[in-house]
Amino acid sequence: TPENEPPQEGDILVYATGAKMNQPILTSDLAEGGPFQLAFPMDPKTKVIRNKEPKNTLLVLKQPPGSYDAKVAAHAAQGVVCYSAICTHLGCTVSLWDAAQKLMRCPCHGALYDPRQDRVVSGPAPQALAQLPIRLEGAQIVVAGAFLGPVGAQV
Ligand code: FES
Repeated sequence: TPENEPPQEGDILVYATGAKMNQPILTSDLAEGGPFQLAFPMDPKTKVIRNKEPKNTLLVLKQPPGSYDAKVAAHAAQGVVCYSAICTHLGCTVSLWDAAQKLMRCPCHGALYDPRQDRVVSGPAPQALAQLPIRLEGAQIVVAGAFLGPVGAQV
């Protein structure tokens, strides 16, 4: 069903949690330097939110555009970047933001991920989170392609 399909090119990102759940995430809502927001892709025509597949859980954040390495920057948009939120260790949702280090942290066993270089900083995760290419349409964040790597537990 559409709710289970992976993110499709042209989908827009909506909040997965919180008071604005299911509403589009606007780039102006994102604080530069974090924290990230958890998101799901939504088909803009049918308004179907693809939230029946846990592997579609995304995280989206904004950093100064110059803070990304070239590989990450190639699929970011004006400092906004999107990753799978599913930890590559055992598949927990990466839900914590380390504000001091500006890193994403998995609550299960503490894997730390760097959004600027798409790499594992520390912990048991065997590989980085898969980046999802995005572009902006006005203030909305739009999926621009498929995940750039495998999603979910990689052990
Ligand atoms: Fe994320 Fe183990 S599932 S660190």
